[in-house]
Amino acid sequence: MAETNLKAQVIFATITGNNEAVADNIISILEERNVQVKKSEISQTEPEELADYDLAFLVPYTYDEGSLPDEGLDYFDDLADVELPGLTYGIAGSGDTFYEGYYCLALDKFDNQMKKTGAKRVADLVRINLYPSPKDKERLVSLVDETIAATKK
Ligand SMILES: Cc1cc2nc3c(=O)[nH]c(=O)nc-3n(C[C@H](O)[C@H](O)[C@H](O)COP(=O)(O)O)c2cc1C
Repeated sequence: MAETNLKAQVIFATITGNNEAVADNIISILEERNVQVKKSEISQTEPEELADYDLAFLVPYTYDEGSLPDEGLDYFDDLADVELPGLTYGIAGSGDTFYEGYYCLALDKFDNQMKKTGAKRVADLVRINLYPSPKDKERLVSLVDETIAATKK
């Protein structure tokens, strides 16, 4: 696939590295599709930056019974104040199925917050148990390809 001129930002939060591994997988896939990518740790970026991109991927961990990453709370709140009608986004993240009803709940919370910006999501959320497996990597390929396909340039 020879996609060109598209720019993506991949925003992640991690404590022990699993979500950075998910973000790095997404980045590799985007680069294989010739999409220009910026990797951002969530406390080092602002939602306003998203206006410079065609696509965004959010990759948060989930903590303490479905809680958002502490260092991502400002980012999360500030999303309510930006309008991003031209953006297409996808959401993936690592949690732990041990937490059952709270499994990867931060993904759903970020999805609800992103919806408020007017940005568009077409691919299903990708919930990953701990470190991404080869099967998870295939799911990330679908996430990236479906999101690229829905992005107009
Ligand atoms: C104290 C604690 C609470 C957690 N709570 C949840 C939770 O509510 N839901 C979930 O899916 N995972 C939960 N997890 C698991 C982490 O989300 C999981 O280990 C994830 O892979 C960590 O990502 P990271 O390596 O990027 O930091 C919790 C882990 C710890 C240590």
